[in-house]
Amino acid sequence: MSTGDGLGLEGRRTPIELGADEFREIGHQLIDDVADLLASMRERPLATGESPEQVRALLESDQSLPNEGTDAATLLRQATDLLVDHSIYNAHPRFFGYITAGAAPIGILGDLLASAINQNVGSWSLSPMATEIEAQTVRWISELVGFPTGGGGVLVSGGNVANMLGFWAARASRVGWDVREHGMRAKGARDLRVYGSKGMHTWIQKAADLSGIGAGSIRWVDTDQEGRIDIRALRAQIEADVAADAVPMMVVGTGGSVSTGVVDPLPELRELCDEYGAWFHVDGAYGAFAVAASAAPPELRGIALADSVAVDPHKWLYAPLEAGCTLVRDPDALLAAFSYRPEYYHFPDGVQNFFEHGIQNSRGFRALKVWLVLRHAGRDGYRRMIDQDIALASRFHAIAAGHPELEAFTHALSITTYRFVPADLSARAKEEPVSAYLDTLNETLLGRIEKSGRAFVSNAVLDGTFVLRMCIVNFRTSLEDVEALADITAELGRAVDQELRPEALR
Ligand SMILES: Cc1ncc(COP(=O)(O)O)c(C=O)c1O
Repeated sequence: MSTGDGLGLEGRRTPIELGADEFREIGHQLIDDVADLLASMRERPLATGESPEQVRALLESDQSLPNEGTDAATLLRQATDLLVDHSIYNAHPRFFGYITAGAAPIGILGDLLASAINQNVGSWSLSPMATEIEAQTVRWISELVGFPTGGGGVLVSGGNVANMLGFWAARASRVGWDVREHGMRAKGARDLRVYGSKGMHTWIQKAADLSGIGAGSIRWVDTDQEGRIDIRALRAQIEADVAADAVPMMVVGTGGSVSTGVVDPLPELRELCDEYGAWFHVDGAYGAFAVAASAAPPELRGIALADSVAVDPHKWLYAPLEAGCTLVRDPDALLAAFSYRPEYYHFPDGVQNFFEHGIQNSRGFRALKVWLVLRHAGRDGYRRMIDQDIALASRFHAIAAGHPELEAFTHALSITTYRFVPADLSARAKEEPVSAYLDTLNETLLGRIEKSGRAFVSNAVLDGTFVLRMCIVNFRTSLEDVEALADITAELGRAVDQELRPEALR
């Protein structure tokens, strides 16, 4: 019976459907374009240096949403051209910025397959194979970083969220009242304190803020000369807080700090946590996967002692963004922090329903790309790639140390810090006003390198000194690239010096 309402309900055809032939044709074209992009990565400029205005003009960003649709082939062509010609390539062999990796090709294909299957990995019954693949992936990640495999874990968007899940697991476990039900104003509630070194990543601020304990509850503990948390200062701080009736909820050990890659003395932190009843969390977002590498500091093996660990497959496993992972020693720790069972969910027991293990309800199949990259390279493949990255950063440190216009600062894991110092100023580099000028010079140089499209570095501030920072989480970087970085830095540094040097310093 026809409803006759003119909506086209019979033999319904929607503007979003693509016939198999058209899908195949434009899909093949897209794969060809992506293959060409990957093959030409080394020859491409790493960045375009375009201004925000130029990028917005290319996109015609002020246009309203069109009423009419556009055919899929045209759209994919436009999107490919916009992105291929106007992106910053973290997959480029000379990308040394932040801790941002290029995507492993098999992960790119994995994302396509994951989108096609489009599982909701919130519950087992909606995603049987995908859930089991995620569970296996979590177990393999535990094995790779030397964490006990009998615990729990879940994939999340990245390092920030992976760390936050550890934070909430600590809160549910170590607070002596039902904080999930009654919050921070429960009867008998006490102030909560969390601890970590001054080199901790900013996720801790978001976690403390969002949990309601406030960012002011974080104790940023001093570091020693190498940048590792000062255990004596930590102990003194915990004792002062306990004396003031606060709960030492959690200590964060950093397994590769974001600025310089240093690793805290993790085994000692475990002992201190046991003494004061605190949860021990390791932020291994950057460094955890290096535990298997021969050049990694032995303290990193203390990951095995943690109650929870955050790792980031979209960094050193080269999974395409986004992929982070939380691991917990107690298999029920995440359930204890996140599980609610509403009556409208009829999910069977005895299987993993990942919506109960974290913040997300509907969840994508990010495990597939991680599972694929792990299997593609294997444990030995990763060990070797990470060893190579660390060795290249170390070589760069030696190159900078021996260069007449570069000054080498730190090297830890695959991060090296350095700066440009004009040869005639090097003897006075620590004196004012030369020291302030070198900060300005290197800050300008940072932007100049980025705009050049020839390399990409980021920065750190070490004891008030502005330094350039190169980080190799990049499976395409070779020795020629780190040698080139030294030359590029010196060449552009000289040009910036010519422009900026005040008369008084000439
Ligand atoms: C030590 C550390 N923790 C946390 C993060 C945050 O990770 P993400 O950017 O994946 O959220 C980073 C990022 O570089 C990091 O280096």
